[in-house]
Amino acid sequence: MSKECRNFTWEEFAALPLGQRNLLHCREETDIYHTLNAEQFDRPALDRIYTLTNIIRSISKTKNGATYLANRLRHQRAMLYFAQASTRTYLSFKTACDILGIRCTDVRDTSTSSEVKGESFGDTIRTFSSYFDVIVMRHSGEQMAEHAAYVLNCSDRPVPVLNAGSGKDQHPTQALLDIYTLRRSFETEGGINGKTILFAGDLARGRTVRSLSKLLALFDNVHIIFSAPSGFEMKSDVLQFLDAKGVHYIQTQDFLSQLPIADAIYMTRVQDEHDSGENRTSQRSYADFSLRYEHLALLKPKCAILHPLPRRDELDAKIDNDPRAKYWRQERNGMWTRAALLAITMGAELQIQEYWRDLSRQASHTAIIDKELLRSEDDDKLWKPIERYLSLQN
Ligand code: CP
Repeated sequence: MSKECRNFTWEEFAALPLGQRNLLHCREETDIYHTLNAEQFDRPALDRIYTLTNIIRSISKTKNGATYLANRLRHQRAMLYFAQASTRTYLSFKTACDILGIRCTDVRDTSTSSEVKGESFGDTIRTFSSYFDVIVMRHSGEQMAEHAAYVLNCSDRPVPVLNAGSGKDQHPTQALLDIYTLRRSFETEGGINGKTILFAGDLARGRTVRSLSKLLALFDNVHIIFSAPSGFEMKSDVLQFLDAKGVHYIQTQDFLSQLPIADAIYMTRVQDEHDSGENRTSQRSYADFSLRYEHLALLKPKCAILHPLPRRDELDAKIDNDPRAKYWRQERNGMWTRAALLAITMGAELQIQEYWRDLSRQASHTAIIDKELLRSEDDDKLWKPIERYLSLQN
């Protein structure tokens, strides 16, 4: 399919509906190739990534397992092209590559790239594909990751592009790790279905919230609460998407009143890196949309507190040691989830699953990983006996 992109100029391609563009980005040999936006994922894809994330995480616990994983993609090279600031997305992709043996090079400072000599964006991307087998890309421009994928689809040496954050629009791999964290947090609470998720902060420019809201639409009876200061409300395109999917949501500025009903609270900071001109949004009051230590008494006993990080004052550091604070785990889950996504994208998924099956046989686990069990949200039954077995091997 992707070669059909050649029938369009970039301007024509970018003007197509997103669903059509996503189809044109697909390749026949694998159904997850480029990772560009949340809309491209369906529920089976989420389940597949969730399962492989758990497998990689468990296998990594032993020296033998970690060595096995590190030999899967030793022949592959990754370009980490981060044209916008990042700590955890960059480091988690870097360590995810390490887990699988993928060798990495990065461009983090575009002043060292021939872009400053006037090289076009398309030529820069094609140059990366001359040397690397996958491009992980963060950019301040909304459609730049997709533009890169389009350029490569039109070329004779396409490689997958993984969007590590594109402007104010999308952060699909963050949304995948957020879904993983929510599923793990609700492991004994019946999973994500039926849960109430409260998003707070700068929702207008929060690409993590925008992508995650769309993935939540793949679960049943999820209720979303958007709570943002005036001027920072969730944009209409996301609300229209949720309307079309029949997702129940409300918008409110009364953040505190929502705390007792939330099963998960997803905090975000003001995204003032997107400010332009005199409009300094960091100067605006954000205090009513902050989670303080004294608010913990209002929360459900099993409420999960998430934050994509980095944080500022909107999330009290005194909350860090409360068992409901999941954001440090969430950050670490980024490494496992991105390793799973890379393994699928680069064709190592089946080998890793086979290794896992062997382990489960050795652990005398009766259920050889069948599809139904893999899709179960009650994962304690599946993972815990094998993890116990692995811990005995260490
Ligand atoms: N969550 C996130 O994208 O963090 P970084 O900006 O540090 O990568």
